[in-house]
Amino acid sequence: MSKLAINGGSKVFETPAIVPKWPPVYPETAEKLKEIYLGHKWSFYGPQEILFNEKYAEYTGAKYCAMMANGTVTLELALQALGIGDGDEVIVPAHTWLATGEAVVYRRAVPVVVDIEPDTLCLDPNKIEAAITSKTKAIIPVHLFGSIADMDRILEIAKKHNLYVVEDCAHAHGGCWDGKHVGTLGNIGSFSFQESKILASGEGGACITNDEQLAEILGRLSHIGYQYAAKQGQKGTPPPMGLLCHNYRVTDFQAAILLSQLEHLKEDTQLREESAEYMRKKLNAIPGITVQARGRKATTQSFYTYTMMVDNTHLKEGITKKDVCAAVTAEGAALWEGWGQPMYRQRLWSVKPEDYRIASNEVAEDIVMNKIMMTSLTWLMTSRADQDKYCDAVAKVMEEYYVD
Ligand SMILES: Cc1ncc(COP(=O)(O)O)c(C=O)c1O
Repeated sequence: MSKLAINGGSKVFETPAIVPKWPPVYPETAEKLKEIYLGHKWSFYGPQEILFNEKYAEYTGAKYCAMMANGTVTLELALQALGIGDGDEVIVPAHTWLATGEAVVYRRAVPVVVDIEPDTLCLDPNKIEAAITSKTKAIIPVHLFGSIADMDRILEIAKKHNLYVVEDCAHAHGGCWDGKHVGTLGNIGSFSFQESKILASGEGGACITNDEQLAEILGRLSHIGYQYAAKQGQKGTPPPMGLLCHNYRVTDFQAAILLSQLEHLKEDTQLREESAEYMRKKLNAIPGITVQARGRKATTQSFYTYTMMVDNTHLKEGITKKDVCAAVTAEGAALWEGWGQPMYRQRLWSVKPEDYRIASNEVAEDIVMNKIMMTSLTWLMTSRADQDKYCDAVAKVMEEYYVD
């Protein structure tokens, strides 16, 4: 057994891996940005924003798309458009970024935390019905990291209990469930285009929907009440009385960046999916390591992070997943612990305990803190030789730390 790099041994990656930088940049986008800048038309239903709405709707197969400032306000406005407000309850998964839960609180509604599945790490449909009360109005499944929530089961439960479904697709651009793009299965799909995301414009977000009325409301809500594509000073009907609208607009610079990335999305998703499956076989063969499961009916699986679980119950005494991450990283292969906490324990979660409810969290409490480890989607864009070495690094560490 060779000595671990963290203990002074030689690294698996003697020569550093060639890992692309994220987000990707394209020379033609730089030209386009310059053109927009020199054109004096930067925002407010600008031509790039309108074009992106059309192109993203077309890409996802949704009828409508509405760009907004980020993937937090998309969730907030999705809930507002569906009429969710004071005291309503909304089911959210125990493991997600805090925005999923906080968007509910912004509506003065109550996030109800439901556990995740141990394999996909997405909302567990088996635990949803126990959390439903007469106040429940919606479910927000999150297609987390590199998987897709079980949309067949979730939609079935929603239908039975007359609930709305808002899909949080912040991690899942390009992913398809049974041939349908994520975000088109429920009432509204919410996307983030924040810098680390699969489509990235620094900041940004979008809602997609097939419902014309919801699309009309989402456009107004994010554009301070203006009718879709109606600019300040121009005609267009005012918002209905009582529809409190926001300025959550984006700029044409962001839309232009996304438009050029969109042209690469299909090919890049396919490349990353192939790499993910290649590495999955190797990593799953390492005792104590299991890669996050694909969505059960994922016909295309997109990846925001590449996530795996370590069986911490079989690690040498005193060794935790933190040590595994540090040792793998020392070999030259990046691995980290993720958010490290379920949503309601994250450092930035500031919602008072009386303002949310935990219905179930057993799996999340264990798996998030003790087992989840992840690397960047950019490793899925490296050469097969670097991917082999990545898996060798994990194997080398587990050979040292795993006990039967
Ligand atoms: C699952 C999930 N939902 C929503 C968001 C919010 O997106 P944004 O950062 O664009 O507000 C994020 C951001 O990381 C996320 O991970």
